[in-house]
Amino acid sequence: MPLNELIHSIPKAELHLHIEGTLEPKLMLEFAKRTGMSMGMSAEELKRAYRFKDLQDFLNIYYKGTDTLRTHEDFYDLTMHYLQKAKENNVVHAEIFYDPQAHIRRGIKFETFTEGIISAMKNARRNLEISSNLILSFLRDLPEENAIRVLDEATSYIHEIKAVGLDSAELGNPPSKFSKAFEIAKDMGLLRVAHAGEEGPPSYIWEAIEILNVERIDHGVKAIEDPNLMKLLAKERIPLTMCPLSNKKLNVIPDLKNYPVREFLKRGIMATINSDDPAYFGGYVNENYTAIQRALNLTPEEICTLASNSILASFIPEERKREILEKIKGPCEKHGVQSFNLSLDSRA
Ligand code: HPA
Ligand code: ZN
Repeated sequence: MPLNELIHSIPKAELHLHIEGTLEPKLMLEFAKRTGMSMGMSAEELKRAYRFKDLQDFLNIYYKGTDTLRTHEDFYDLTMHYLQKAKENNVVHAEIFYDPQAHIRRGIKFETFTEGIISAMKNARRNLEISSNLILSFLRDLPEENAIRVLDEATSYIHEIKAVGLDSAELGNPPSKFSKAFEIAKDMGLLRVAHAGEEGPPSYIWEAIEILNVERIDHGVKAIEDPNLMKLLAKERIPLTMCPLSNKKLNVIPDLKNYPVREFLKRGIMATINSDDPAYFGGYVNENYTAIQRALNLTPEEICTLASNSILASFIPEERKREILEKIKGPCEKHGVQSFNLSLDSRA
């Protein structure tokens, strides 16, 4: 039975979302026009061209798209557009990645894009009742010194940034390459997350946990290959921010029917569902829930657990967590779900 109504009505958090990956073709063309660029394609043609062999194939197009973002206003409009979409998806809290190095290397100032994004987040807090945190993500295919320089630039915005992350081309760029940068980030009071086990092996997930001291793993699909790692994830309550439509589009898994999320839940791993780069992968967060619910015939209880996990795994204060968890109960009880994991732990 499709559970669209339940999926839509549950308040949820989105924890794995690249703001540059929310750049819809229509918006891209508008920004290109503002700066006098030409993409040489219509919005429909751009959408049709979004077929990717693997992560690198996607990243080539993703970075080309980011070239259209130049001004404070572009970044503000982009972020506001995502937060409106989040509202439509009943997302009450979002943790938003951004890629400073992708903009700095094009000559855009750190304050231009950071302030553009932050002012939209503040607006959404006031006018859409969506809270959000910003995660500064390092491009792992660039040298570690480059990441450390970005951290230096971030110093004056330290109170606006919640965590650091690690994204871009995974294979050949293991987490251990960034041990110093993550240590500096920790000393600056920032929390830590890292993409690991998207295309890379389980050993990259081990490194992210043991060397980078991460609070969460982004993706983590490949953990299914390592029973000892699954035991650790469950025991230490290290959440996975999974993105089914992304993993399907980038051929991380051949078919959503093989997606390991049920297995993870059964083993007590705190899995969550997210959209990653919704403008490129065919759907926002509710579409990710719906796709995986259909593929695996997930039960209302499993859907409710995934949504409550998203709140528990977020970096929001316990009081706000409690407030949102209370609001999850209604829609779940309406679908016959009486008990699921609503317990708070002491993570954030
Ligand atoms: N993986 C790695 N890096 C990224 C992604 C992703 O899915 N999206 C944007 N940067
Ligand atoms: Zn991602």
